[in-house]
Amino acid sequence: MYNFIPEIMYKAAEIMLSAHNIDSKIEVKPGDANFVTAYDKAVEEFLITELTKQLPEAYVIGEEEEENPTDMLSKGLSLIIDPIDGTTNFIHRYRHSAISVGLCDRGVMIYGAVYDPYMDLLYTAEREKGAYITEKKSEKSPLHINDKPLKDSLAAFGTSPYRRNELGKITFDTAYKMFLHTRDIRRSGSAALDLASVAAGVVDIFFEYSLSPWDFAAGSILVEEAGGIITDMTGKKLTFDSPSSILCGNKRAHEEWLNLNK
Ligand code: 2AM
Ligand code: CA
Repeated sequence: MYNFIPEIMYKAAEIMLSAHNIDSKIEVKPGDANFVTAYDKAVEEFLITELTKQLPEAYVIGEEEEENPTDMLSKGLSLIIDPIDGTTNFIHRYRHSAISVGLCDRGVMIYGAVYDPYMDLLYTAEREKGAYITEKKSEKSPLHINDKPLKDSLAAFGTSPYRRNELGKITFDTAYKMFLHTRDIRRSGSAALDLASVAAGVVDIFFEYSLSPWDFAAGSILVEEAGGIITDMTGKKLTFDSPSSILCGNKRAHEEWLNLNK
């Protein structure tokens, strides 16, 4: 039903892949290490123009917008857009960034898509219709999260770099504890791709202390439709109208982690 969304994302990704001289196109936003490039803005503008042609009734919430109508989330249909998630990776040519588009209907995510243009991997999910991966624009395959215990899990975390003074210590203390209870731990630099990796069963548990709705909106429905669970760090249900901590994974590892931290 929403196949037009990834088609538009594939086109938007061409703007990302055409990037050159990124260093000369960086601006600093308020906060620590909070960057935006001309490419983030161009991708967001393209996505908004094309997506709202198909969904003219939708409110738009986007990482690079000056004002976001988050109070309207509970009232109607909203597009939640992160044009380049993993901007620091993008600036450093680390080739691990993604486009994330979610569709929220009266506060509930009904569709999500995350696209990694470097690997040409598209992750999609529609409420009650499952989560899928499409590799190199071929047939889509369903995603099912396994039931690994924490001790056999591959963990991942994010460092909330914009708020490092406030959250750096607790982030690395938590990461150390998670490292001790799992097989090993990774830090990728793109929350949207971390959530997609959880949906794909590649990563089994993920946390980050502060993320914005555009970082986790699409990823949250990927995780849920693949059979996993996503909450805040204390196990509470997520909302999409404000920043939140995130804890997600397979249901068993997620529960074991919450029990360890009671
Ligand atoms: P960005 O690359 O689009 O800016 C890095 O830890 C991941 O979290 C990225 O997905 C980054 O998004 C996002 N991010 C990092 N710190 C954040 C913060 N304090 N608030 C919101 N999003 C953050
Ligand atoms: Ca982001």
